[in-house]
Amino acid sequence: MKKFPPLIAGFPHFLYGGDYNPDQWWHDTPNIVDEDMKFARAAGCNTFSVGIFSWAEWEPEEGKFDFSRLDALLDRLAAEKHHVLLATPSASYPNWMARRYPEVVRVNSDGKRTPLGGRQCHCWRSPIYREKVALINSKLAERYGKHPALVGWHISNEYYGACYCDYCKAAFRQWLKARYGTLEALNSAWWAHFWSHAYSDWDEIEPGLVCMDGLALDWFRFTTEQVCDFIRHEVAAVRKHSDLPATTNMMGYNPHLDYWRIAEVCDFIADDRYPGWLEVKDFPGTAANTAFCHDMHRAMKKRPWLLMESTPSNTNWQPYYRLKRPGLLRAEELLAVAHGADGVMYFQFRKGRGGSEKMHGAIVDHARSTETRVFRELAEVGETLKKLQPVLGTGTVPEAAVIFDWEVMTALNVSGGPSHESKRVMDTVLAHYRALWELNIPTDVIESRADFSGYKLIVAPMLYALLPGVAERIREFVRAGGVWVSTYLSGYVNASNLCWLDGFPGDGLREVFGLWSEELDGLTAEDTQHLAPCPGNALNWQGQAEVRDFAERIHPEGAEVLGVYGEDFYAGEAALTVNAFGAGFAYYQAARCDGKFLHDFYALVAAKHGVKSLLATPPGVHVMLREGDGEKYLFFFNFQTQEARFPLGDIVGKEMVTGERIHTEMTLPAFGSSVVKLD
Ligand code: GLA
Ligand code: ZN
Repeated sequence: MKKFPPLIAGFPHFLYGGDYNPDQWWHDTPNIVDEDMKFARAAGCNTFSVGIFSWAEWEPEEGKFDFSRLDALLDRLAAEKHHVLLATPSASYPNWMARRYPEVVRVNSDGKRTPLGGRQCHCWRSPIYREKVALINSKLAERYGKHPALVGWHISNEYYGACYCDYCKAAFRQWLKARYGTLEALNSAWWAHFWSHAYSDWDEIEPGLVCMDGLALDWFRFTTEQVCDFIRHEVAAVRKHSDLPATTNMMGYNPHLDYWRIAEVCDFIADDRYPGWLEVKDFPGTAANTAFCHDMHRAMKKRPWLLMESTPSNTNWQPYYRLKRPGLLRAEELLAVAHGADGVMYFQFRKGRGGSEKMHGAIVDHARSTETRVFRELAEVGETLKKLQPVLGTGTVPEAAVIFDWEVMTALNVSGGPSHESKRVMDTVLAHYRALWELNIPTDVIESRADFSGYKLIVAPMLYALLPGVAERIREFVRAGGVWVSTYLSGYVNASNLCWLDGFPGDGLREVFGLWSEELDGLTAEDTQHLAPCPGNALNWQGQAEVRDFAERIHPEGAEVLGVYGEDFYAGEAALTVNAFGAGFAYYQAARCDGKFLHDFYALVAAKHGVKSLLATPPGVHVMLREGDGEKYLFFFNFQTQEARFPLGDIVGKEMVTGERIHTEMTLPAFGSSVVKLD
């Protein structure tokens, strides 16, 4: 494959830097930027996100703009050959605005305006807020659009939440009119005749009626659309004067917004990732969950992305204020690079003296020293990134994909059952992904609307809702030779959260999987159930898997049974099946099984169907590949707390930082990481 162009046109280097807020300092410490620049050089930084929450600095009074300090800052950063991602400041409005125009303040689901002062607490539709945002954005773009330091737009910050004000509710009703046309159609889609909730007037529709799951699902979709619309509004104001790329920072797999849609209104993908490394007995688990997000962000535009925020050490908001153990910072940042990031940045450049984030990790600590453990490790990451420059712009073309779909997850989460405690869609998707991660099988994380062609194996845990056309595309994928894996609780409802009739999985998938699911058993913590292999099964799966939470009673209609239930009144019935369909295979796991089972299952499926693993490694060691222009780069990680030593097979190359020849065997210390350019 060819290399991708750099995130910043004409700058073929990894972006390295962070959120930079000298505006919190310059009132009391006018020379703060001079000092910062020394630290920036020592750490190897080259890029800064500026002005994220600085509206009150640029517009201290309504209509009175003061950009003098920003002028000086950007000139200085340009003189230092640094790059700026300039933020639009909409994430946090000035106090004067909220007092003068209360309508800009968000209304909570209980109908009350949020208290002034936080952030991301603005209305999405207030005409005044939109006008003020457009004005400040276009002023910034006009003034700095051609500034030599400026390389892109950081639109707002971590958009979040819904507003229940009259403007927003009216917009919801408009959106529903466009979606359904008539109230009859809406009443049917929402099953609104239930509990006498049928609507006779659009104005009767109130978001927040949680007993109506169709409404709740549409409110989620609409909330995402509100944010997309707001982003489009912000970017349009910027575009009057600047063509530089614009993005907004996402929050991984945060359940509240459908980031597949947000991705569509961004020029490149940026994510904020704060693995806490709190699972002290399972660091590989933290690493796998982190890589999951990375694989999703790479897959969103099928090209390199930017880790916009991470923390150099601890965070102030996680349950434990845990330090990153030596080596872990480098491993964490390189994990993002391995999974497709062409830049890694931090929150924040300098720790504030006050405010609620003064205890959060930063490049420059209160001690103002380069002679700290964290600073030395940061500088080492900066140095490493320079040596990895040839990796920039390379990509990964996985043969495997895991489906993570916000709409589908939300459809299940807003449904009254089965068992709120047990649903755990996110955990389930992560558990399946982890097996592939452990097997070092490069994997894309995609949504169910994505193009399935090009993959050999697609894993779709708990694909509860089938959005229009998805079942047909699954059928085509399998018929054409693909391998598909589904689980319990798949194909239960359509896009409106209405159940499919005539047997799950619906919409024609019963034929693809060669089975139907008659009933779903929810297991209590006291229940015991097992999945046992059928002797001589086609997958050659052996052992026994523990079943938790969910067990479906399925009836094969052509599917071959690979494993059966071990206990209870359905002992001996099918629990794991495969159906040959067209040129492909559709696997079905009727029960939720433990991680060991998933690992073994995917190892067997990959081997049988020719899905390649990069290398078999000991537990906790992870390998990932980037390639382009005929070159291949292998990333190695040890997320265990003890040294790992493992054979390399026919892997031969050169370590990109030490220059050492690599072959035969590799040894990595605890939290060690290594990048090898293959011969
Ligand atoms: C988020 C925000 C930052 C900061 C960090 C703290 O990612 O975008 O402004 O609050 O969290 O971890
Ligand atoms: Zn509103």
